[in-house]
Amino acid sequence: MARLLHLSDLHFGAHDPRLVEAVEQRIHEEKPDLVVISGDFTQRARTEQFREACQFLDRLREAGHDVLGVPGNHDVPLYDVLRRFLSPLTRYKRFIDDELCPMHELRGATVLGINTARSLTFKDGNISHEQMRFIRDTFERTDAKAMRILVTHHPLFALPVGDGPELGKAIGRQELALDAIADCGVDLLLAGHNHRASAHNARDLATRAGSSLVIQAGTATSVRLRDEEQSFNEIDIDGENVTLTVQSWAGDKFASGDAQRFVREGDHWRIAGAELKVEQTAH
Ligand SMILES: [Fe+2]
Ligand SMILES: [Fe+2]
Repeated sequence: MARLLHLSDLHFGAHDPRLVEAVEQRIHEEKPDLVVISGDFTQRARTEQFREACQFLDRLREAGHDVLGVPGNHDVPLYDVLRRFLSPLTRYKRFIDDELCPMHELRGATVLGINTARSLTFKDGNISHEQMRFIRDTFERTDAKAMRILVTHHPLFALPVGDGPELGKAIGRQELALDAIADCGVDLLLAGHNHRASAHNARDLATRAGSSLVIQAGTATSVRLRDEEQSFNEIDIDGENVTLTVQSWAGDKFASGDAQRFVREGDHWRIAGAELKVEQTAH
């Protein structure tokens, strides 16, 4: 079995230190095989904010945890226009990871991160043709029996933002990206950006999608909430089965929600004991 802790949208600079401490505590207790952080490490990509994020990662690594991260739109400078266009991810590379599309192999799971943050858009994400080739090539040469997990900051689908009916934007070049993902049999798609935790069958969200299970993380430590408390995801992978437990902030600690066990049946995922609805929110 492999255990991932999926955190997102830490937003150092607009974070609550109590939650950072509580997240670290839970990471030590849960002993994951990998901590996945799906972007927005900082609030405004400032050096001091990256330094705080870096110290957080250093503490995790010093305690023996492996971490895989991808940049988010907030990790690209917004107001510093020169830096935004000439060296958008220099600070990310210096403080977080020199590798923008990292890969990590676990027993039973291969995890690949793809950078979807761009200088040319304010907050939207994109996948390049080169990255699509990279996704195909990477999964082609890794263990065919291992679960294939793709991590991006931006969700590939238009998913709810906030409490109302408003949907965020799907990723740029969505159809081509979904073709690449379906071709190489990606099983799990992990993302953040909307600050809202949920799980979906990819096929319910887009007709061309393959049979992936889509798991969105809320914000783990940011004080900028969108009608939902801070949370992160605990994801246990056992052969073909996935168990998702959302850990939500309860005012003084992170509390475990109900464990949702997803079983793969042909080209879709079913919650053991119930049909997977279009959206399974965190609570
Ligand atoms: Fe964010
Ligand atoms: Fe974001």
